Amino acid sequence: MADPAVELSGDVSWIAEAFPLPDGRFEHVSVYLVEAPAGSILIDSGSFYHRERLRRRITQATAGRGIGAMILSHSDYPHSGNVPDFRRLWGDFEIVASCADAAAQGLPYARRSRIGGSLDVLGRTFRFLDPPLADRSHTSWIYDEASRVMFAADGFGIYHAEGETGFTSRDYAAGISEEAIHDFHKDTIVWLRYVDPALLMDALRAMFDAHPVSWVAPIHGAPIAAEDLDDYLEKLERSVVAVSEGYTVH
Ligand SMILES: [Fe+2]
Ligand SMILES: [Fe+2]
Repeated sequence: MADPAVELSGDVSWIAEAFPLPDGRFEHVSVYLVEAPAGSILIDSGSFYHRERLRRRITQATAGRGIGAMILSHSDYPHSGNVPDFRRLWGDFEIVASCADAAAQGLPYARRSRIGGSLDVLGRTFRFLDPPLADRSHTSWIYDEASRVMFAADGFGIYHAEGETGFTSRDYAAGISEEAIHDFHKDTIVWLRYVDPALLMDALRAMFDAHPVSWVAPIHGAPIAAEDLDDYLEKLERSVVAVSEGYTVH
């Protein structure tokens, strides 16, 4: 029996997977499932490294129906690597992707999302937002209007300890660790060292003011519940200051 998905809101769940890192910590490469009126929508496709597990877990989470559509945050391989395999398994379901040139990015069949716009996918409305934290152009954050979950692609990740792969922010008694936030963003968002932390944090807080969240749902981290978001943002702000000033929080 595969591990059950973690329910975030009634119709959004998290299928958490992780890679071991050389230092003994782990990095999530997860997917999310949204139950829409006309079928199940997968957010990102996960890593090929977890392909067999994801097939089993998605099949279980959808009671054997599989997925009816997929929305990709961006086309980096750990996010899009299972697209062809899942289409062979579950049919030519619709794929929505933010891309400049779908064919060049290996997604010739994708329906293009426009950053700043919104789309109806299987009867559910998603907004596509320009992310203040991303490692590639043509990344979008995906805001699910019905659940108010913000799928944050490469932003809001952490590294975590063995045994914590299924933890959300609510499972960390002292909140998500600042070191985990710092180390992930320092390694992943390589331009952070050049950024003005105040401008970045203003952009993030403005985005959350405009799009109130129930959860922030990163691909490479633990989902952050609304009541834990201020704590995370304060730790992120200190982390970004540390990165931009060239020292670490250790
Ligand atoms: Fe990426
Ligand atoms: Fe990524």
